[in-house]
Amino acid sequence: MNIKEGIEKRFSVRAFTDEVPKLKTIKEILKTANAAPSGGNIQPWKVYVLSEEAKKRLAEKTLYNFDNGVQEEIEYDIYPKPLADEYKKRRYECGLDMYGALSIEKDDLDSRFKQIRENYNFFGAPLGMIITIDRSFGNNGWGHVGMFLENLWLSAIHYGLGVCLQESWSIYPKTVKDHIKHPDNEIVWCGVAIGYEDKSHPINQYRTRREELESFVKFVE
Ligand SMILES: Cc1cc2nc3c(=O)[nH]c(=O)nc-3n(C[C@H](O)[C@H](O)[C@H](O)COP(=O)(O)O)c2cc1C
Repeated sequence: MNIKEGIEKRFSVRAFTDEVPKLKTIKEILKTANAAPSGGNIQPWKVYVLSEEAKKRLAEKTLYNFDNGVQEEIEYDIYPKPLADEYKKRRYECGLDMYGALSIEKDDLDSRFKQIRENYNFFGAPLGMIITIDRSFGNNGWGHVGMFLENLWLSAIHYGLGVCLQESWSIYPKTVKDHIKHPDNEIVWCGVAIGYEDKSHPINQYRTRREELESFVKFVE
């Protein structure tokens, strides 16, 4: 697969088989991801790879939080408040397409809730990761970690694995810290569900939309 094919083939995988990727493969993926560029080559990413057991423990506690309405003090807003209409529209369409693939109706809040809940089980992926960044970096540093994450995603595809990034873990920073025990100077950015794609699951069948070039590019004369 060439680079263009890999980029175009990438999508968020939200259902997995039980097959557990070998640690050797995960290490290869992370090594390749680590070739990512960062300003001044600061490489500000930190990765916590959870074993099956560690993932299970974190998922159990977080699902308990979710089911029982436990709230934690969040450390960043996933979306700006308010979210401008342009972005709201895309987020709406994103949900529409995903719930559509699952045949979940707009007013079926129970089923929607159940699907959101799956985030905290890493969508059934056999392995999970948590990505943190040093708090001191601010927005600019987060962009550098983004370079690493796209690399991680594409190298996972190279090894036949599927990925979903998950900001949803940032809702429970205390629970995550209790489990991965990262130092106080790090902030939880997102989770990574990783494993072999369940190709028969409806949630993996749809693809998200993209804007036309004209809507986000200006050729300045
Ligand atoms: C940083 C980041 C965080 C994300 N967090 C979540 C999440 O918490 N839950 C989820 O289901 N998808 C999450 N996604 C996946 C996006 O919804 C998805 O990338 C987007 O809708 C485009 O779809 P595609 O990845 O299939 O191309 C996240 C993606 C990124 C890049």
